[in-house]
Amino acid sequence: MARDRRDYYYHQAKEDGYRSRASYKLKQINEKHKIINRGDSVVDLGAAPGGWLQVAKELSGGKVLGVDLQRITPIEGVETIMGDINADSTIKKIIKIVGEKGADVVLCDAAPNLSGNWSYDHARSIELSTSALECAKKILKPKGNFVVKVFQGDMFKDYMDKVRDNFVHVKAYSPQASRSQSAEIYVVGKKFLTAPLRKGDNFVVDIEKLGSSGDGAVLIEGFVVFVKGVEVGEKVRISITDVKPNFAFAEVAERLGKAENPENSGNPENPESPEKSE
Ligand SMILES: C[S@@+](CC[C@H](N)C(=O)[O-])C[C@H]1O[C@@H](n2cnc3c(N)ncnc32)[C@H](O)[C@@H]1O
Repeated sequence: MARDRRDYYYHQAKEDGYRSRASYKLKQINEKHKIINRGDSVVDLGAAPGGWLQVAKELSGGKVLGVDLQRITPIEGVETIMGDINADSTIKKIIKIVGEKGADVVLCDAAPNLSGNWSYDHARSIELSTSALECAKKILKPKGNFVVKVFQGDMFKDYMDKVRDNFVHVKAYSPQASRSQSAEIYVVGKKFLTAPLRKGDNFVVDIEKLGSSGDGAVLIEGFVVFVKGVEVGEKVRISITDVKPNFAFAEVAERLGKAENPENSGNPENPESPEKSE
């Protein structure tokens, strides 16, 4: 069965003019998760021989850049660079090409050379996918999307948590075109977070204003946080429960009495700088 499926995508790639059977994995990931939209700029890390680049170009029609240790035979409308995704010099080259505003999508299908030793290969894969995540954090636009291949193993859960810290929606997905006995899985992160806070962070704040929903509304480094169950004039320790691209939610971890400057209550022009607490 697995062999039939491999042969099917191998032959299909030849017929459709794709450079690799991997093209169908990206097509299936995109059908399911809507990662690449028309006009998007896309950076593909570990892109040789270029099957994903061909699909990314078809889907976006925008700027597409491929990066690999190996040279990629030119594809019309696609830029390529040779480089190691672990190297700062490669990231600098990418930023120079995509511009300071960043890319809409970062893809990574990079794979280490497999040794056949499961835990060694898993560790190398986590190392590579961690580099891809660090790279994505430097080159993605706010709300951008990320897809990365990982070989499963005991460090997978921690890796997922790292991706969850940086994206609003995170899923693991195995496209049908992946071989059934393969350890590979794709982690899909949607809506890159650029908020100055993360789930679980604590802050001490004065509630000076309520939002239209009746929740407290405080500013933390210019970022709006809604706090449930508070009143204007209270001082509270809050714990962030959920972070969205433009605002976050928090719950009260501790009530600390009255705000120090109750006369400022309700004055959005004069928000007190909240202190982060451990
Ligand atoms: C499975 S192939 C990618 C196939 C590609 N998605 C396609 O559709 O044609 C994995 C690629 O990752 C590249 N790679 C592995 N480690 C890398 C690194 N540190 N920096 C850049 N590329 C890397 C390899 O050279 C290889 O070409």
